[in-house]
Amino acid sequence: MSADDPIEPWSIDVLTLFPHWLQWLDEVRPIRNATELGLLALRALDLREHSPLKHRQVDDTPYGGGAGMVLRIDAVVAAMEGHYAQPVEDTRAGRRVVVLTPAGRTFDDAMAIRWAQERRPTTILCGRYEGFDYRVHEHVATEEVSIGPYVLSGGEVAAMTMIDAVARKLPGALGNEESLSDETFSDALDGGAEYPHYTRPADFRGWGVPEILSSGHHAEIQKWRLEQSRARTERNAASPEASADATTS
Ligand code: ADE
Repeated sequence: MSADDPIEPWSIDVLTLFPHWLQWLDEVRPIRNATELGLLALRALDLREHSPLKHRQVDDTPYGGGAGMVLRIDAVVAAMEGHYAQPVEDTRAGRRVVVLTPAGRTFDDAMAIRWAQERRPTTILCGRYEGFDYRVHEHVATEEVSIGPYVLSGGEVAAMTMIDAVARKLPGALGNEESLSDETFSDALDGGAEYPHYTRPADFRGWGVPEILSSGHHAEIQKWRLEQSRARTERNAASPEASADATTS
């Protein structure tokens, strides 16, 4: 393969009970750019579509009792095999298959960078209710991922969050006006918080703009920005109340 060969779009499929919720992804600029540039091929696949059960059932009551419903292994495997037209083992061997769960490994910027570099074909399984029969985790998925230490009512918002975070890392997705290099978590800021930005008007209801930013001294501005970034990072690490105080003062 030579450097001039066109690259294949990165395939990301989301398996969900609510495929239409994912339409938001088609409208978000960085994601649309990545799709239009041929870097990304996103699909929302219906978990119910290939259900072998009556009324396209996909869930059932949990063994051992308890509240809520659990998504069935046979429905998930039928959906995977129906959509990919091959045994689920082959799909698992060829794709990253992510099951979303608050009990998974926490998704972060480092993971987003790695995924965007590897561009491994990916399938994201969105749970609802009490989540999936654990055999989905054991025999269908290749990894369990959470977007943070809180419980959502399903995986769709988590899937959209992760896809937004990875798509904007693809070369060209952001366009000229934005940059990955000076944003929160970037190496340029030692992985810390981004510095504050201001624009016109210079005075609004007596709320001013730091004078340094109009000084034209680029080196001084850069120094000020790094100081601000460090102070903001330290505030966030100190206590939630301290950060909240700093933004409301
Ligand atoms: N489903 C429910 N809560 C979740 C979380 N925090 N991350 C990923 N998927 C979830």
